[in-house]
Amino acid sequence: MSRPILGILGAGRAGTAIARQSMKAGYSVLIANSRGPASLRLMVEVLIPGATAVTAEEAVSRSDIVYLALPLGKYRGIPAEKAAGKIVIDAMNYWPAVDGFIEEFQQDSRSSSELIQDFLPRSQVVKTLNHIGYHELEEEGLPPGTKGRRAVVLAGNNPEAKVVVARLISDLGFDFIDAGPLSEGWRFGPGTPVFGGRYTARDLREALESASREQDTRGWARSDIETSPSDRYSGSSSAPMQMSALGKPVSGAAGRRGDVGEALGTGGQD
Ligand SMILES: NC(=O)c1ccc[n+]([C@@H]2O[C@H](COP(=O)([O-])OP(=O)(O)OC[C@H]3O[C@@H](n4cnc5c(N)ncnc54)[C@H](OP(=O)(O)O)[C@@H]3O)[C@@H](O)[C@H]2O)c1
Repeated sequence: MSRPILGILGAGRAGTAIARQSMKAGYSVLIANSRGPASLRLMVEVLIPGATAVTAEEAVSRSDIVYLALPLGKYRGIPAEKAAGKIVIDAMNYWPAVDGFIEEFQQDSRSSSELIQDFLPRSQVVKTLNHIGYHELEEEGLPPGTKGRRAVVLAGNNPEAKVVVARLISDLGFDFIDAGPLSEGWRFGPGTPVFGGRYTARDLREALESASREQDTRGWARSDIETSPSDRYSGSSSAPMQMSALGKPVSGAAGRRGDVGEALGTGGQD
């Protein structure tokens, strides 16, 4: 069966890493930045051979899955109309230490991906792969069933979209757990134990549950931000690596935890 075409918005650290890793897994990749394909051609040739540099509009309209790897503050540049009816992976973070304060995200208590879903009302947004560093994405993928396989979280309001994205995650080399609807996205954003932590599926569930609203970067004062490390994607967790356990699925309605594992017939967690 042919794999879906991935249209990546953002050709920086995260965008190029996801491009390489997904091409290794057999996906076709279209990639765009904000300046147009001519500015990307040499970079694509050298860093992501096999990918096709296109405009942002083309990356969205010609793909099956859109992958958002641009700075969150630039989200209004996403060609929303072209994304109608598509699955959109939101891998972006509201991370004031890196992006500065963005009033809109600072003031809204909803998860950043809910705001992205509002901006893309006719797309199925799934938040995931935001909490793993770009280099880890390439270096830490393992085949399904491998002992110690690292897991990532996904959240979304549309169960079918989550199943498609869960397949991509597994093809990239990772287990997954389903955190439920997009409103749960804050549980794996910057500041939480999941963000930058290395966990198997079993440990990841615990880390997800242990997140508290105080850890959400929106609660941080400007002084905290000035003194916080600016690259915290990796290595902050001392969580032990344990055997990955794809286990029993939890049944539930759309957007509830466990839906994805059930639909894939694996369960995403133990
Ligand atoms: N770095 C990581 O390890 C990592 C891991 C997971 C998630 N993320 C998330 O991924 C996002 C990008 O992070 P990054 O570190 O990859 O940033 P980066 O290296 O600065 O790259 C940002 C890319 O976004 C492009 N871009 C900006 N506006 C755009 C638009 N309207 N349409 C298409 N592309 C646009 C930029 O292109 P131009 O140069 O042409 O403007 C650039 O190629 C952030 O939200 C971050 O939180 C990062």
